[in-house]
Amino acid sequence: MSRGVKTMRIGIIGTGWFSKVHAGILSGMEGVQVKAICGTSAEKAQQMASRYGASGYGQLSDMLDGERLDAVYICVPPLAHGEVERQLLQRKIPFLVEKPLGIGTEVPLDILSGIQSSSLITSVGYHFRYMETSLRLKEALARQSAGMAVGQWMGSMPQVAWWRKQAGSGGQFIEQTTHLVDLLRYCAGEVEEVQALYGQRMQRREDLGVEVADVGTVSLRLRSGFIANISNTCLLPTGVSRVGLTFYTEEGMLDWSPERLRMSETGQTTEWPNGSDPYALESAAFIHAVRTGDASRILSDYADAFRTHLVTCAALESAAAGRPILISE
Ligand SMILES: NC(=O)c1ccc[n+]([C@@H]2O[C@H](COP(=O)([O-])OP(=O)(O)OC[C@H]3O[C@@H](n4cnc5c(N)ncnc54)[C@H](O)[C@@H]3O)[C@@H](O)[C@H]2O)c1
Repeated sequence: MSRGVKTMRIGIIGTGWFSKVHAGILSGMEGVQVKAICGTSAEKAQQMASRYGASGYGQLSDMLDGERLDAVYICVPPLAHGEVERQLLQRKIPFLVEKPLGIGTEVPLDILSGIQSSSLITSVGYHFRYMETSLRLKEALARQSAGMAVGQWMGSMPQVAWWRKQAGSGGQFIEQTTHLVDLLRYCAGEVEEVQALYGQRMQRREDLGVEVADVGTVSLRLRSGFIANISNTCLLPTGVSRVGLTFYTEEGMLDWSPERLRMSETGQTTEWPNGSDPYALESAAFIHAVRTGDASRILSDYADAFRTHLVTCAALESAAAGRPILISE
């Protein structure tokens, strides 16, 4: 690190899987120090903190009183949003928050209004946006005449207990498939209307304590008239999955998956692997923004992510009400 450049002191909230992914990336970045970890207990937080030479806290207010942090990463389950963001807003501490923003729209809407009135720097963990194949897809779609897209997030039930509870995760479309809805918005534009069918087909639902829908299909109409369908299931056995989004255009097919982009035109198929680490790029963009005030490299801030969240929550509402839901501008 060149002399005179201030080290960024980062706090992390959450001691689960993804807080460790972010901590690993941050601790490998030049000019960045993981200073503090906050968990549901001081013991768990100290255990994780010891790996990074950081301090552990069981209460967020203690961490924020005890440290002078430049930014905080929020890696908590969807049910745990609200108070955490409010405390950071009050202290004007920029944050990167993992998706989804919550289990419904009420809490995120309140946080959004606080962010807008304070101009706080935020970033949301829609990491697909940072993949080079997503940029290539977005650029190709700008040149081509697209008709529709069909996508899917077909996988198994994550093991964490909160995920299978409706009031814990909001369900698969809000918690997981949100990444594909966000990619659709990023590449093809705003969603105007959604219509969803959800179902519960898994045989061992009761044994496993599953409340959320385990199959679902959501049709979406964009403001441009472009239509899409994104389906999901979490009833597959572990290790069997298919995740992706395919665009159908007058020029051919653009088939995107987290691993690669495949473009099929008449007589020719071209494939680009995704070579970059989107999580590292996401953190680099956020840390750059906190260091310099230039947020232009952040590809998903809270206000943008809120629009994705509105779509996934509208899908849940549509499935419950049995009718299409219009999304306000
Ligand atoms: N962008 C991505 O690719 C990606 C990947 C994985 C997870 N995530 C997101 O990160 C968030 C955290 O996921 P995870 O896999 O780390 O979950 P996890 O269950 O492994 O960890 C969650 C942590 O949150 C903390 N926590 C705070 N309040 C809590 C509460 N009321 N109940 C339970 N834990 C509480 C605990 O420290 C816990 O360890 C989720 O929103 C998830 O969607 C994003």
